[in-house]
Amino acid sequence: MAVQTTKQGRLNSAAELETLRQEIKSATGENPRLITICCGTGCLAYGGAKLAQAFRDEIETRGLQDKVGVKTTGCHGFCERGPLVVIRPENILYQRVKPEDVGDVISDTIEQGKVVERLLYTLPGTKERVTYEHDVPFYKKQMRLVFGANGYIDPTLIEDYIGVGGYTAMVKALFSMTPDEVVSEVKRSGLRGRGGGGFSAGAKWESTREAHGGLKYLICNCDEGDPGAFMDRSLMEGNPFGILEGMVIAAYAIGCHEGYIYIRHEYPVAVKHAEMAIAKAEAMGLLGDNILGSGFSFKIKINRGGGAFVCGESTALMASVEGRIGEPRAKYIHTSEKGLWDRPTVLNNVETLANVPLIINRGAQWYSSIGTANSKGTKIFSLVGKVNNTGLIEVPMGITLREIIYDIGGGILKNKKFKAVQTGGPSGGCLPAEMLDLAVDFDELSRAGSMMGSGAMIVMDEDNCMVDIARYFVSFLEGESCGKCVPCREGLKRMNQILERITNGNGRDGDIELLEDLSETLTWGALCGLGGGAANPVMSTIRYFRDEYEAHIKEKRCPAGVCKPLITYNIVEANCPGCNLCIKACPVNAITSPGKKMPVILDQSKCTKCGACYDVCRLNAVEVR
Ligand code: SF4
Ligand code: SF4
Ligand code: SF4
Ligand code: FES
Repeated sequence: MAVQTTKQGRLNSAAELETLRQEIKSATGENPRLITICCGTGCLAYGGAKLAQAFRDEIETRGLQDKVGVKTTGCHGFCERGPLVVIRPENILYQRVKPEDVGDVISDTIEQGKVVERLLYTLPGTKERVTYEHDVPFYKKQMRLVFGANGYIDPTLIEDYIGVGGYTAMVKALFSMTPDEVVSEVKRSGLRGRGGGGFSAGAKWESTREAHGGLKYLICNCDEGDPGAFMDRSLMEGNPFGILEGMVIAAYAIGCHEGYIYIRHEYPVAVKHAEMAIAKAEAMGLLGDNILGSGFSFKIKINRGGGAFVCGESTALMASVEGRIGEPRAKYIHTSEKGLWDRPTVLNNVETLANVPLIINRGAQWYSSIGTANSKGTKIFSLVGKVNNTGLIEVPMGITLREIIYDIGGGILKNKKFKAVQTGGPSGGCLPAEMLDLAVDFDELSRAGSMMGSGAMIVMDEDNCMVDIARYFVSFLEGESCGKCVPCREGLKRMNQILERITNGNGRDGDIELLEDLSETLTWGALCGLGGGAANPVMSTIRYFRDEYEAHIKEKRCPAGVCKPLITYNIVEANCPGCNLCIKACPVNAITSPGKKMPVILDQSKCTKCGACYDVCRLNAVEVR
């Protein structure tokens, strides 16, 4: 629902912006009745756009345009339940909504004030239905500050962002703070970079501000190469104006007038929203020349990344923006001195920049009251893997892994046993059950042998083989290594060979020690962060799951039943009444029936260990040994 205001053109002062905001607010009312439909990438894939159109059509057919509005929004986080619909202002959450449900939602909820029970979230244990978004366990322990506007605003409408207080932080910074005061506020807030390194954002800004040379650059990193991570994409899709506002404030603090958003080409919605937001903000005088008549100018260009994981590294990313091959360089001279085109440059992650307007608006003291001693504010994680509730979560620093996995994530799928959680993406470590009460922050994760990284969190259960997991990540990183330095190029190749040997049943005495040696060489000898962190999955799995390595090497056994050369599928005759489901499922006819209602027979010489019989058997009559 686009808001009609008297002022749609360029704004020339902070006062004009404020007038526009008041107009928008009075046009929409305090708590407007709205049907919000998530159209982030996840919900779009489930049919979010068609659903939104069905709501619009139904409202028009029933002549309810004056009673309720329809708004498409960015990601609400609970993507696996999509498409999500939230009825505001009550915040009634409907999940997995289809166009066929639209009539009931309109007649029951909008016209009669009743909930449509079948569309509510159901608690897995008690089967109790939950009506309101904030009562759903997935949301209960979250603190959605950076994600605050996602779910409320249409990311393609700048008026929506202005209506919820957008650009107040930029006005405060440009008109009532000096650049030094902005830097000092961000420093005092304790904000650390959310992209992986965890450096103080304020200190980074300060050194670039103080660097010699008039021309400086700001880059927003929206490359996000970690498998399973999608928080930067969701922020850019759901609230691009918030990122732009953070960028203007950062540019003002640093003293720079040109910026880039480096964004993955595979993120079409995020690219589209970023392009649209830049054009709209420029047209309204909120970006570009002489922003709001303040005398400060800042322009942003978009640079699309080709999807190379190594381009998440600052110097490789800058090389890529310059049009060169995305290879890291040694940082004898920091990028704050010589970065993009050898000019002082700040590179901040999307989430880091999205925190900035909050800090400027509400103050460093408020911000630093959230979190732990050295990790302030909230962190967005993509919680994926073997948990009941997957999606994007925003939680205060210091929350425990147990709260994330069991309270927010709803525990392990199919009530299996938790085995490990990998934090920090492919270069992160795998933490075992003994670490479930670890308070999640930058320092605690590093001490435990893992890292915050960009915020990917992959949960594993008893069916995951930790040696195979280490092999998978090493193989991923070997493929992504740029090959410039020997420890990473050759080290990862050798580690992958050793891990393959172990998972194939050919592990040798001394392999664990060899992996440890190579890990150390890689950690200390690699040129950039990709190689420097690449040994974490190996070192952490050896540290916490050494018994699994030993079982593979000494006993030629995979305790989790994953590594094919080390397992066999067998029929437990006592459990098998001969239902023959597995016979139909076996692609190579390795299972036969000796007669009606008799246990089936599995021919090991034909079995390719695909696991299909194990998956279909409902009576635990197929076992893995
Ligand atoms: S550590 Fe790996 S990715 Fe980094 S420069 Fe060396 S070879 Fe390239
Ligand atoms: S594991 Fe696969 S190939 Fe082997 S018996 Fe079962 S279904 Fe057939
Ligand atoms: S599916 Fe299970 S119970 Fe049925 S025949 Fe196969 S092993 Fe036996
Ligand atoms: S995309 Fe809809 S909840 Fe994430």
